Amino acid sequence: MATKYQFAGSILSADLLRLQADVQDALDAGIDVIHFDVMDFHFVPNLTFGPGLLAQMRKAFPQAIFDVHLMVDPVTEDIIRAYADAGASWISFHPEACVHVDRTLALIQSLGCKSGLVLNPGTAPQMLRYLWDKLDFVLVMTVNPGFGGQKLIPAALQKVSDVRRMAAEANVKPAIEVDGGVDPVTVGACAKAGANVFVVGSAFFGKSDRKAALAALHEGLTL
Ligand code: DX5
Ligand code: ZN
Repeated sequence: MATKYQFAGSILSADLLRLQADVQDALDAGIDVIHFDVMDFHFVPNLTFGPGLLAQMRKAFPQAIFDVHLMVDPVTEDIIRAYADAGASWISFHPEACVHVDRTLALIQSLGCKSGLVLNPGTAPQMLRYLWDKLDFVLVMTVNPGFGGQKLIPAALQKVSDVRRMAAEANVKPAIEVDGGVDPVTVGACAKAGANVFVVGSAFFGKSDRKAALAALHEGLTL
């Protein structure tokens, strides 16, 4: 995966009644990736988007990178296939919700998608050590998943550094994505800790001027 910095706009903070126009606006503003949060009201206390919506978005935006973050329990082969068929570019899931993590990562790659594992704030990164060959990226949750607009948990940045160090020790360079509470003030610390993909919901889709919001985020990287 690309190693330069990428921003992934989370449609959770978009105007859902004008989603197509909002995604177009985000792409026009220069967002790199569209982050698509899938919640099942079971793994997390919220319910969001299904594969039907993703398929329509893929049709409307054939060139876009769609980053599907599965917050579902259990993670099944059917769910993975449904989102891959609908046009996901990247698919990540939480290991707590999956019995066969290694096999599921391999399945995602075999369907032509980038594979990612998501670590909740209380989840240790040790298992990554055994999975590098099937992992394209690691998504470190910097809030507890379920809702946009929360405050970044500082201890999660320590985990980002730990993951970056573990990857270096294993001689691999996965993308490290952070999700939750990323804004112009916190993005610099995320990058310093070793993250290179930043999910931005309220700090991007939540703003009316997306160009200005993205410029502020890029500026935050240099502080
Ligand atoms: C939270 C989701 C995030 C959310 C981030 O469970 O996984 O993708 O949209 O929103 P902000 O950027 O507002 O914290
Ligand atoms: Zn997410």
